[in-house]
Amino acid sequence: MSKGLFLVFEGIDGAGKSSQLQRLAARLRAAGHEVLCLREPTDGPCGAEIRRRAREGPPLPPQEELDLFLQDRRENVAERVLPALAAGKAVLQDRYFYSTAAYQAARPELGLSPAEVVSLHAWAPLPDLVLLLDLPVDEGLRRVVRRGRGDAFEERALQERVRKNFLALAARDPRFRRIDAGRPEEEVAAAVWDAVRPLLEEVQA
Ligand code: TYD
Repeated sequence: MSKGLFLVFEGIDGAGKSSQLQRLAARLRAAGHEVLCLREPTDGPCGAEIRRRAREGPPLPPQEELDLFLQDRRENVAERVLPALAAGKAVLQDRYFYSTAAYQAARPELGLSPAEVVSLHAWAPLPDLVLLLDLPVDEGLRRVVRRGRGDAFEERALQERVRKNFLALAARDPRFRRIDAGRPEEEVAAAVWDAVRPLLEEVQA
């Protein structure tokens, strides 16, 4: 691979991002690509604090939470994403700044639109592709509950606003591919692969 590839998975809670990311990683590795899998919030200090507060409370004030997501992302991009891309790797990331745009703009207390949150990321490298795994909120919630991982983020009305924000972002940005994630995992994986394959041909050309 002559240059790196930056692929981002987005979607509401329960959309199946992490299993699709792992499937894509396996497929890319089998095709001979060097792959780095990342996630935001990260396992670094800021990301760990975000996860801990979401799990144990008390909830972070919205502005503080936004600042932590941004700091976590700056560290992730500088320390992991950019070096891997420079080394020609395929970086597969579970969530990026589109999640901040969708989730933090869904919190009325913050008073920011998705576009305003995106504009806080002028410094951030753009991915080659954003795979939006889209499904109805009820289905997402059902899957999350079944996994027994309910937390403060997973409230229904919030998820509806988040989904709406993701769809609005996708409608305006040609980097997005909306993938119907309400189908069997194999079918979703095939749709993901169809979206990614043209980029591999470009990279290898
Ligand atoms: P995620 O890693 O998808 O959850 P899990 O720990 O279950 O794998 O993300 C954790 C939560 O953080 C999720 O509800 C989405 C939210 N989030 C934001 O609100 N803003 C952000 O910028 C990011 C990256 C995540």
